[in-house]
Amino acid sequence: MISPPAQQEHPSDLSGASLQLLFPSPVMYFDWPESEALNASLRDVVLERRRSSAGTVKTNRGGWQSNTDLQDWTEPAVRQLLDRVLELAKEYVARQTGRRDPAFEQGWKIRAWANVNERGHFNRVHDHLGKYSFFSGVYYVNVGDIEEGRAGGGRTRFEDWSLVAIDTNREPDVLRRDVLMSPRNGRMLLFPSSLMHSVERYEGDTQRITLAFNLYHPGFGIPRLDQRLQQQGWWWTNFRGIMVLRRKIPEKLYALCLLPRMMAARRVPNPLSPPPGSSTCRWR
Ligand SMILES: [Fe+2]
Repeated sequence: MISPPAQQEHPSDLSGASLQLLFPSPVMYFDWPESEALNASLRDVVLERRRSSAGTVKTNRGGWQSNTDLQDWTEPAVRQLLDRVLELAKEYVARQTGRRDPAFEQGWKIRAWANVNERGHFNRVHDHLGKYSFFSGVYYVNVGDIEEGRAGGGRTRFEDWSLVAIDTNREPDVLRRDVLMSPRNGRMLLFPSSLMHSVERYEGDTQRITLAFNLYHPGFGIPRLDQRLQQQGWWWTNFRGIMVLRRKIPEKLYALCLLPRMMAARRVPNPLSPPPGSSTCRWR
């Protein structure tokens, strides 16, 4: 609940009104200390995999994305990184629930993959929501050679799709409802899988390597997830226009039925009539 502003300018006393911020998006980040050796090993592992795998194309535009099987890679560096993911996930849950629940010490499922981007590569806007992805994250192995926080560094852009109106006096650009997270070697982000995000176009000269992951735990559930996933079928992904049309056609047919009534009710303005409220003729 947000307390009312200190200066009361209203004639009425509205201090008793409650303002609640509903449905927040918890985003956590942590800079793992002493990660240089781990990152060097992860880099070698990822680049070695890239030599033997064509990878896959999902939200990535350019670059190489591994298959979603990093959770099964046996290299010690990968196992260490996955341990870190689970540690931070437990902290993420504890911060939100206010306690360390033993139920969340075990039972996590991770699906993870690696990304290698070079100049000009980026990821389009997307989310990671799925039957087995409730929380998602990224770990920056090697952010490349763009100075931290600068444009072109492949920053992760979280977007607000809540469509809540914003104060355009303070922020005139209504499209600007996003938060940029700066990559840093050893940094790990965790966020709800439903949070829309993209990866800024990378403009550096050296390779940019990241690991991404989705997390699931049976102790969590997402309200209305099934409805949401039904929409995300193959037809919706590939033929969105046709799918929207299928919904819209009945609406438009009904609107056509209303057309005669709308025409009958429509007043056709007479240019010789004085405007309403005027007692004199305009042309006198
Ligand atoms: Fe993503």
